[in-house]
Amino acid sequence: MNRLNSIEELHRKQKELLARPRGERVIRVCSTGCRALGALEVCEALDREIDRLDLGDRVQVVRTGCHGLCAGAVAMVIDPRGIFYQNVTPHDVPEIIETTILGNKTIRRLCWSSGRQTISRQRDIPFYQRQTRVVLRNCGVVDPRSLEDAVAHGAYLAAADAFSRMPPEGIIAEVIASGLRGRGGAGFPTGRKWEFVRSAAGQPKYIICNADEGDPGAFMDRALLEGDPHLVIEGMIIGAYAIGAAKGFIYVRAEYPIAIEHTEIALDQARRAGLLGEDILGTGFDFDLEIRKGAGAFVCGEETALIASIEGRRGMPRPRPPFPATSGLFGKPTNINNVETWANVPRILEKGAAAYAQIGTEGSKGTKIFALAGKVNNTGLVEVPMGTTLREIIFDIGGGIPHGRRFKAAQIGGPSGGCVPARYLDVPLDYDSVQMIGAIMGSGGLIVMDQATCMVDIAKFFTDFVQSESCGKCVPCRVGTKRMAEILARITAGQAELTEIDQLAQLGEVVREASLCGLGQTAPNPVLSTIRYFRDEYEAHIVEKRCPSHACKALVSTTCSSACPAHVSVQDYVALVAEGRLAEALEVIRRRNPFPSVCGRACDHPCETFCRRGDLDEPVAIRHLKRFVSDRVREIGAPPKWRGPRQGRVAVIGSGPAGLTAAYFLALMGREVKVYEALEVVGGVLAAGIPPYRLPRQVLQRDIEYIRRAGVEIETGRRIASLQELREANFDAIFVAVGAHQSSRLNIPGEDTQGVQDAVSFLRRINLGELTSLPGRVVVIGGGNAAIDSARTALRLGADSVSLLYRRSREEMPAIREEIEEALLEGVEMQFLVAPIAIEGNGSVRAIRINEMELGEADESGRRRPIPKPGGEVVMEADQVIVAIGQGPELSFAASDGQLVVAKGRISAHPVTQRSGEGNLFAGGDAVTGPATIIEAIAAGQRAAQAIDLFLGGKGELPPARGFPGRSKPDEQEAAAPRQAIRGTPPRKRKGNFMEIFKGYSLQAACAEARRCLRCDLD
Ligand SMILES: Cc1cc2nc3c(=O)[nH]c(=O)nc-3n(C[C@H](O)[C@H](O)[C@H](O)COP(=O)(O)OP(=O)(O)OC[C@H]3O[C@@H](n4cnc5c(N)ncnc54)[C@H](O)[C@@H]3O)c2cc1C
Ligand SMILES: Cc1cc2nc3c(=O)[nH]c(=O)nc-3n(C[C@H](O)[C@H](O)[C@H](O)COP(=O)(O)O)c2cc1C
Ligand code: SF4
Ligand code: SF4
Ligand code: FES
Repeated sequence: MNRLNSIEELHRKQKELLARPRGERVIRVCSTGCRALGALEVCEALDREIDRLDLGDRVQVVRTGCHGLCAGAVAMVIDPRGIFYQNVTPHDVPEIIETTILGNKTIRRLCWSSGRQTISRQRDIPFYQRQTRVVLRNCGVVDPRSLEDAVAHGAYLAAADAFSRMPPEGIIAEVIASGLRGRGGAGFPTGRKWEFVRSAAGQPKYIICNADEGDPGAFMDRALLEGDPHLVIEGMIIGAYAIGAAKGFIYVRAEYPIAIEHTEIALDQARRAGLLGEDILGTGFDFDLEIRKGAGAFVCGEETALIASIEGRRGMPRPRPPFPATSGLFGKPTNINNVETWANVPRILEKGAAAYAQIGTEGSKGTKIFALAGKVNNTGLVEVPMGTTLREIIFDIGGGIPHGRRFKAAQIGGPSGGCVPARYLDVPLDYDSVQMIGAIMGSGGLIVMDQATCMVDIAKFFTDFVQSESCGKCVPCRVGTKRMAEILARITAGQAELTEIDQLAQLGEVVREASLCGLGQTAPNPVLSTIRYFRDEYEAHIVEKRCPSHACKALVSTTCSSACPAHVSVQDYVALVAEGRLAEALEVIRRRNPFPSVCGRACDHPCETFCRRGDLDEPVAIRHLKRFVSDRVREIGAPPKWRGPRQGRVAVIGSGPAGLTAAYFLALMGREVKVYEALEVVGGVLAAGIPPYRLPRQVLQRDIEYIRRAGVEIETGRRIASLQELREANFDAIFVAVGAHQSSRLNIPGEDTQGVQDAVSFLRRINLGELTSLPGRVVVIGGGNAAIDSARTALRLGADSVSLLYRRSREEMPAIREEIEEALLEGVEMQFLVAPIAIEGNGSVRAIRINEMELGEADESGRRRPIPKPGGEVVMEADQVIVAIGQGPELSFAASDGQLVVAKGRISAHPVTQRSGEGNLFAGGDAVTGPATIIEAIAAGQRAAQAIDLFLGGKGELPPARGFPGRSKPDEQEAAAPRQAIRGTPPRKRKGNFMEIFKGYSLQAACAEARRCLRCDLD
């Protein structure tokens, strides 16, 4: 661009540029961050294809900065329709040109999708819809290497306007009135800082842009310089004019080559166009900027260290005062602002301080850019008004947590910040509220953590980081962070003492109080916040030598076997399947879990939730592989028989998974075991609850038969009426595993009307053949497995319609995710955020009165409490109501026994030994935990068997978990394979029958799936 000699020339130039003919289609490709995934190759392919088809006049390719939705790299937008394509590769280019550019049609495969919804236009994607992109307005839109493009989009007009109509003091007053606070971390009011520097004695005055950006996970400053460098330069020109500075520096880390390149180009262009240098726009104002590259030390982001670094000295902080405002660069008054702070300045002047101050909260005005990273679906750059909640950012914009895992915490503010737990999801993010919950806004790094993230390990990561970044000038930081890092290393290795948690906290307080600069003063924040909110995780590492998130290498061999409550050696049997060694694989499973056939179908598979392969694409289908093994090995086989006389008599009450597992392992350990079951069938909920379309009865029988073959005796139709009965029969120990079959009541009018029944009794009657049809309109109340099974069973029994009412949201339903999806496919209508208030009917049910709910404050778990919506009453017609809102154990058999410890309607038992009280009573499964899962019941049975054996004088040893060496890590091709799907009966063919829905894997599919396992134990 030629030199612009006046403000009018700039305006004329802008008009001229806007009038320029552009292509009919403009393809904007992110060519900065997305470069790592091949953006330049995509651009080259576009150029080639456009050349080949001679479309140069009609189609323009613009290489832009970050579009924000970095999870979709390589990202592009096609204007004028604003079609957003993601994950684009050079191979997609010919199709894009043919279908979208020439054919005007969208390519679904490349559109953004949440799984349930596919959206083609950028502005309709929730990620963009819910943002307020003020500073990022042109990032991803303009070509950052083109001054023309920037000017066409309004660059430098705010500066020109300021020169023409505002005195420097007026600009400062405007910035003060806008309420802008520094975006670099501390949140100091920007206008006030400018005022100090303007009025400070001494010349020349300097301004500096702090683009050191050392927080791991933060990249908003980099993205701004890469994607819209003229905006930052314009902000600095305005600042220099207001402060009275003639020289400025942009201090940017050398690790940001694209940011440096684009800023260098922009500075050069601005200088040549008369926007920088002498006599800017003919106004007589002189100002120039230089880039200084930092070597990448976190401490150099601290302003006094940064100044030392620009001066050519070692980047070490010095005590303040004097502040840089009075004695900064080369001892002269200096103003330092962060990149984003500078970028806000033109936006303030564009519309005026009052309009700017409309955005945000009382104490924090404007927007904030967050670098959303970690365990969240839509990672990228997000700009929202100050005061937006974490929940909105993570769930509405970020699309929630991937792989069905739960949100655990967010690290806000990088190494200087803190970990915020789920219960603060609704706290508005502004400088003051964030500080109140133990974090700091920092520069805007926001790392999302799910249930597989260990909070101690996170604290260790950040402490190691600050420790290695400490400049070493003062002892509390240099030595204190080292000692803290050592303690954390011991905790994550399971080698620490309990007292060390408090030592860590005390040390943290000292480091915070006694360090010289912000690095040391904030270094303990991650540790202190995790101790404050996740102390139980610290204790589990120390006391139980267990990492509850299955992440700490020293305590966990593989996340899958650690996350499996029964600790089946998953990696071993999966490896054996990959080699076709199925009998050995089955044996590995049975060494910890005597229910492979059942768990292969109905387990809620926590192993898969935590499987590390899931971090790459999808978890290994561990459950399907278990099913495959149990189906394929046709011989039931027999466990090793106990040789010799059995010693020690154990009674087990209840033949559910808890009771039978305990009985099985006790039998293997040489005990004489007798199981008493009240029903005529064996298996507890497995036989009388879970419907056969999920768990065929002959499949269950296989596992039960194997358990019997271990020497377990089972008596059915025998309800134990009192524990005294068993004492009189001289059992040496008793394991109480009676499950939770007593339904919780709704406690609403009309609950005893005919046609209202509880889910457990309903399913039991079906499973025992007592009920064979259920006509009419059925309403099921609840959100767990019992509710979903009841609803799907009702459909199979001929119900005209089935509606399921749940008081929370779909995401919060406790039922197994896959089962919810199947229920929807089969035609169960689900209503969320509704609660029943009365059942109506004369003699038999006619309708149910419900109240719509709205979500209130978050509870401890981070879930928002449902509260009745005023005026939200609705009446639904119904003929049958099935209640599935929770169950507790029926404990009348223990009423007169003083030894069994009962609290809050459940049996109390030690979490490791399952012992209840001081005598010979043990308890486990749902009777202790309340409604839980099959695998948790199995694990309780396993622990009880060990503890009972020890109690009886044995060693309490289970068979060795491992024992068959299998294959090594997958090769590249095997590892790249997608998760193998399974086939099932289509929903329309499921009505009226209870046939099993899903078919198992073929041998080929099972082997391919098993080869996807990364063998994490071999890392
Ligand atoms: C409908 C439904 C579907 C479910 N689906 C799944 C699923 O898909 N995946 C999953 O992981 N979990 C599921 N669950 C949960 C899971 O089934 C339970 O957590 C598990 O069965 C608990 O095992 P348990 O051995 O403690 O008790 P139970 O399986 O309940 O067994 C207890 C047994 O004790 C007997 N009993 C009670 N009192 C006496 C007495 N006084 N004398 C003699 N016998 C007595 C009962 O008759 C019963 O057979 C489901 C639960 C329900 C209700
Ligand atoms: C250890 C440490 C690192 C820092 N890193 C940065 C940084 O990377 N970028 C930044 O703008 N501010 C950083 N700061 C804050 C700066 O010292 C300073 O407050 C900020 O640049 C002022 O600009 P602002 O008022 O626009 O926020 C850091 C502070 C400390 C203590
Ligand atoms: S607190 Fe740490 S980083 Fe800061 S001056 Fe002291 S030793 Fe250096
Ligand atoms: S990849 Fe394999 S070893 Fe690793 S967690 Fe998943 S199943 Fe286990
Ligand atoms: S880096 Fe390409 S979209 Fe963010």
